[in-house]
Amino acid sequence: MSTGAGTGRATARTKVLVTGAGSGIGEGIAMVLAERGWQVAVNDIDGDAAARVANRLGGVSVPGDVGADPAGIVNRAATLLGGLDALVNNAGIHRRAPLASVTPEQLDDVYRVNLRAVVLASQAALAHFAVHGSGSIVNLSSIAAVTPQMDVGMYTAAKAGVSAFTQQASVEWGALGVRVNAVAPGMTRTAMAEAVYADPVLHERRRGMVPVGRIGTPRDIGTAVAFLLSTDASYVSGQTLVVDGGFTQTLIGLLPHPGAASS
Ligand SMILES: NC(=O)c1ccc[n+]([C@@H]2O[C@H](COP(=O)([O-])OP(=O)(O)OC[C@H]3O[C@@H](n4cnc5c(N)ncnc54)[C@H](O)[C@@H]3O)[C@@H](O)[C@H]2O)c1
Repeated sequence: MSTGAGTGRATARTKVLVTGAGSGIGEGIAMVLAERGWQVAVNDIDGDAAARVANRLGGVSVPGDVGADPAGIVNRAATLLGGLDALVNNAGIHRRAPLASVTPEQLDDVYRVNLRAVVLASQAALAHFAVHGSGSIVNLSSIAAVTPQMDVGMYTAAKAGVSAFTQQASVEWGALGVRVNAVAPGMTRTAMAEAVYADPVLHERRRGMVPVGRIGTPRDIGTAVAFLLSTDASYVSGQTLVVDGGFTQTLIGLLPHPGAASS
């Protein structure tokens, strides 16, 4: 089988669906994969955005809500591409609210898109991977899965669920030739967080907290996803790769120490 789960710098054209790829991190992932020879199906709930990105990278557009019809989106992508070798479950949403007052609707919205769709789309992809006897899945988790922040409702729990699902699926689907991994982005400049980064003062303060000295870009996440989908990662499964410029390693450094400035 020549296609396998694809190569990072592919010589053979391989076929991948990226959900929520009409903008932000998903668009960055789709662009990097296209540059490396993948045939890309671009899904987004915003059909115009999906079409724009698909046109730009020479892929196919699969508009639709992964919260409503994840299996249908996977099957349409496979039909349009003529098969499927890999799936990137990227689409994700926030419903910001204090945990004490988060509504059942907010819980359901976040669960449906951020976790339920990941499981159901992955299940649907298995049937297409079975044609070759191999496949690869990358799910978008978050540093929030292990480092909670205030007032994000169900988001933290759903992303922890994504990482746990990644581990579980790697165990159950390895024998099918399917690797399952996750990427946990840190601070990445997209529409999801633009209210923060549009403020130059906040941007600078956050940038200064990242050891590598900058806020992440969608391409930073795209290259990590491309690695996990590639044959370079053919013995990597069940892992969540944190891509945050070292930010989550800085916690103990934030503690006051003797001799440190008091402010
Ligand atoms: N930006 C960050 O700092 C950051 C950090 C950690 C994790 N993440 C995760 O990375 C992923 C992408 O985040 P982003 O920052 O690019 O978000 P974004 O809000 O900027 O873009 C999300 C894209 O997904 C699409 N989308 C939303 N709901 C959808 C649905 N139901 N079906 C199909 N498409 C849908 C949107 O239209 C949009 O194009 C998400 O899973 C997010 O939780 C982001």
